[in-house]
Amino acid sequence: MTALLSVERLHIGSGGRSAPILDDVSFAVSDGETVGVLGASGSGKTSLALSLLGLLPQSLETRGRVVFDGYNMLERAAGARRNLRGRRISMVFQEPLTALNPRQRVGAQVAEVARAHGERDAQKAMRGAVDMLHRAGLTDAGTRALRYPHELSGGERQRVLLAMALLLDPALLVADEPTSALDVTVQAQVLQLLRTLQRERGMAMLLVSHDLGVIATTCSRTMVLHDGRVVEDTATPQLLAAPEHPQARALVDAVRPAGRGA
Ligand SMILES: Nc1ncnc2c1ncn2[C@@H]1O[C@H](COP(=O)(O)OP(=O)(O)O)[C@@H](O)[C@H]1O
Ligand SMILES: [Mg+2]
Repeated sequence: MTALLSVERLHIGSGGRSAPILDDVSFAVSDGETVGVLGASGSGKTSLALSLLGLLPQSLETRGRVVFDGYNMLERAAGARRNLRGRRISMVFQEPLTALNPRQRVGAQVAEVARAHGERDAQKAMRGAVDMLHRAGLTDAGTRALRYPHELSGGERQRVLLAMALLLDPALLVADEPTSALDVTVQAQVLQLLRTLQRERGMAMLLVSHDLGVIATTCSRTMVLHDGRVVEDTATPQLLAAPEHPQARALVDAVRPAGRGA
């Protein structure tokens, strides 16, 4: 079976004399597969996520390949990448407030995703947006669609971002710390929603987090990133039971209840 996404020996330099941001990273994601990317702050998770969508800053030199839908995202023309984003591959970010336009009503921002990908009928785009906001769990979506981002709670804003990311039914969702800015109760609700939508659509997902608790409930496979390298890539239950790399062990111990042995 050919992979939906195949990352081959990806290297991202940081310019200057410091160590590379990513070094010799290789992995693949199949259709419908849920993969966690676990790593401490600074391990390169966000850079990896951005590279998959062709969103890395131009200033960073890259080597290797990021093959999605049969094309190398690092080499594709900007227009072709834009055409894939939202439609075939989508991303949600950690801080929904900075990812939304503060001056535009949230319903219009969701509708704009459809418009950007060719929907000419503005009313139809808005109906689709409200429907998707409803499916993303925004209560009273018809009315809330008319609100501005600052008039919603953090959890509601993250639901808006999810609606934008999932509107066009992408084959792969890249979620970078999607719940880290939310309090624990809301975090659990948004994760539950993410799992439900992923399953309903058979969508593949790369869930990036520093928190193994978040990944363990959601992803069947987990990669551990440390200083820009993949130090472990294994079935999540296997990682939880017997982490091999010292960094992986430290991250597992952080979520394991005290006293429970390996
Ligand atoms: N545009 C950039 N230019 C130079 N260094 C960067 C850039 N973006 C990130 N880095 C560096 O790469 C490393 C990994 O960052 P990042 O990918 O944000 O990690 P994480 O998301 O795991 O916290 C950090 O040391 C960071 O300072
Ligand atoms: Mg990050």
